[in-house]
Amino acid sequence: MRKKIALIGGGQIGQILAMLAAQKELGDIVILDVPDYVNVCKGKALDLMEMAPHGNYDASITATSDYKDIAGADVVIVTAGKPREAGMTREDLLNVNIKIITEVANGVKQYAPKAFCIIVTNPLDAMVYVFHKVTGFPKHQVIGMAGTLDTARWRAFIAMELGVSVADVAGTVLGGHGPDMVPLPRLTTVGGVPLTEIASPEQIDRLVTRTREAGTEIVKLFGKGSAFFSPAWSAIVIAESYLKDKRRVLPCAALCEGEYGVNGLFIGVPCLISAKGMEKIFEIKLTEEEKAQFQKTVASVTKTVSECKI
Ligand code: APR
Repeated sequence: MRKKIALIGGGQIGQILAMLAAQKELGDIVILDVPDYVNVCKGKALDLMEMAPHGNYDASITATSDYKDIAGADVVIVTAGKPREAGMTREDLLNVNIKIITEVANGVKQYAPKAFCIIVTNPLDAMVYVFHKVTGFPKHQVIGMAGTLDTARWRAFIAMELGVSVADVAGTVLGGHGPDMVPLPRLTTVGGVPLTEIASPEQIDRLVTRTREAGTEIVKLFGKGSAFFSPAWSAIVIAESYLKDKRRVLPCAALCEGEYGVNGLFIGVPCLISAKGMEKIFEIKLTEEEKAQFQKTVASVTKTVSECKI
């Protein structure tokens, strides 16, 4: 029997998730969205079914607004939420998305209680916290996608700056999914060569800043809405590692209980993603400067989470 993947939210990211999951034959796909948008999602699902003969995949792709249809899902990826609209404060957005994530969490808890859940909705670190609180799922079953995307951006910018293959750039970005995130140049390599030996301090500063602002750079270009290709791929990489037990080590927002001196907060740290879910958090010995940066991002996430009234 095929695996089942439930995509909660069939908007910009949701539709790319569906396409990638189908192309990779990760399983059958159910897109769940609000009743007002479900016909559009049914159209997207049908379009993807009609792409299958050329895409060369076998999968059932459907859309619904009824949580019963996600029953028994192996993986749930949540992109449901609203973007910020004119006149809305960050807190307004937070409150709107908390309501949506609470509703989603209750639906997933009832119909897919064994699913490995990947949260993508922003503000990411707070939304994954809310989802975990509402479901009460064990910590290995719930993670936030952000660090995998932030690391992809870090690697892409380095490859672009140095004119090298992105395949040879390895590194990681820790912390919250915001402007305080912590790229780690000291631990980044290009084909085994330390980044700090082949890029100047000015270049590295520029790359760090661009990575921290990468989401905003795209929002500015779009004018409306945010990135969707790279966030979708990042979530799929995590889902694939879980479904195929690939045991990838990926930075994800995971519940820290003592790791990195953090307690009770979801924040970006390197995680082993296996068939067990978020199997393990790897701790890195940080320098004093890196520790200070990490504490700053922890403070930002703590503040946002403290504003969540659930
Ligand atoms: N239940 C299910 N789906 C919902 C709900 C709900 N209660 N509320 C909204 N949605 C759906 C919307 O109808 C829409 O189709 O969520 C989808 C969100 O899609 P987009 O607005 O296109 O947003 P997208 O670009 O996909 O980003 C989704 O991920 O990266 C983050 O900041 C981004 O929070 C945003 C999320």
